[in-house]
Amino acid sequence: MKKKDEFYTVRGYKMLNGDKKLLTASMEDYLEMIYRIHKEEGYVRMNQLAEKLNVRPSSASKTVQKLNSLGMVDYQKYGIIKLTEEGKKLGSFLLKRHNIIEEFLKNIGIKEMRLKDTEMMEHGMSLSTLQNIYILNKFFADNPDVMTRFEDYKAKYYDERDPSDFPFDI
Ligand code: CO
Repeated sequence: MKKKDEFYTVRGYKMLNGDKKLLTASMEDYLEMIYRIHKEEGYVRMNQLAEKLNVRPSSASKTVQKLNSLGMVDYQKYGIIKLTEEGKKLGSFLLKRHNIIEEFLKNIGIKEMRLKDTEMMEHGMSLSTLQNIYILNKFFADNPDVMTRFEDYKAKYYDERDPSDFPFDI
């Protein structure tokens, strides 16, 4: 992460978890998805957003109105959604947070449940937990030998085809 990105991460976190929680988990999912599409295309169509989030356009519209009144998006007419500067900053943080958690789950060897668990874990995680996970990911990336040792160690105890055969008492 560059210095500028770090700034946005801390700032994004503060925006989300300031005096009172700014966005609900669902609103965070919307903003993250809007940011993903906006990054590629420069704007987002309401129908497209509803489709990506697997929701009805009427419920998408309700949540987008809320993001609009919070100044995160500019939603006027013709079903076109644009991000404000504030929305871009927060959206960028949400996407980074998602990617950090997803990379962590990948590092510990989660495959099928990775996306679902990322979505579960991302909302409401403290900044310091997120930062420490980021460092752990970086540590693995910078030390592939440690990654291999971890994988070998794990293989001794854990068979992902049969998670019920877990040798530890947790
Ligand atoms: Co996400």
